Amino acid sequence: MSESHASAAEFESLITAAKSARENAHAAYSNFRVGAGLRAASGRIFGGCNVENATYGLTICAERVAIFKAISEGERGFDAIAVVTDTDALTPPCGACRQLIWEFCGDIPVILANLKGNVEVIPMNELFPKPFDASSL
Ligand code: THU
Repeated sequence: MSESHASAAEFESLITAAKSARENAHAAYSNFRVGAGLRAASGRIFGGCNVENATYGLTICAERVAIFKAISEGERGFDAIAVVTDTDALTPPCGACRQLIWEFCGDIPVILANLKGNVEVIPMNELFPKPFDASSL
């Protein structure tokens, strides 16, 4: 674990939600199952999994599913997001998800975890240092 135990414990509920959502992944083409857990400022936690499609291009990542679920439930403002995969190398959000996380969540901690219990916390401003956003317009 590359982060302190305190940080890992703080984010445990999000990791648990991400693991649980991952169980529902529809990853029929890549077999790469991803779960996300997103905590809203209200305290509610939203899970998301990747949902693939035979066209491949219509696939949506776990992170965006979690964000869209939360937004569609009226949530605004988010504290942290966790991403869980079953890989030794922890999985960071793809570029499209980084854009969306930045739009709706800003500079939140991104918790990367795997099923072995490895955890790394990276702030969005490190993952996405020079964003195009509303301030660019
Ligand atoms: N995927 C995610 O859901 N989140 C990520 O952070 C990386 C990639 C999904 C998309 C696709 O279903 C599969 O993983 C392989 O790219």
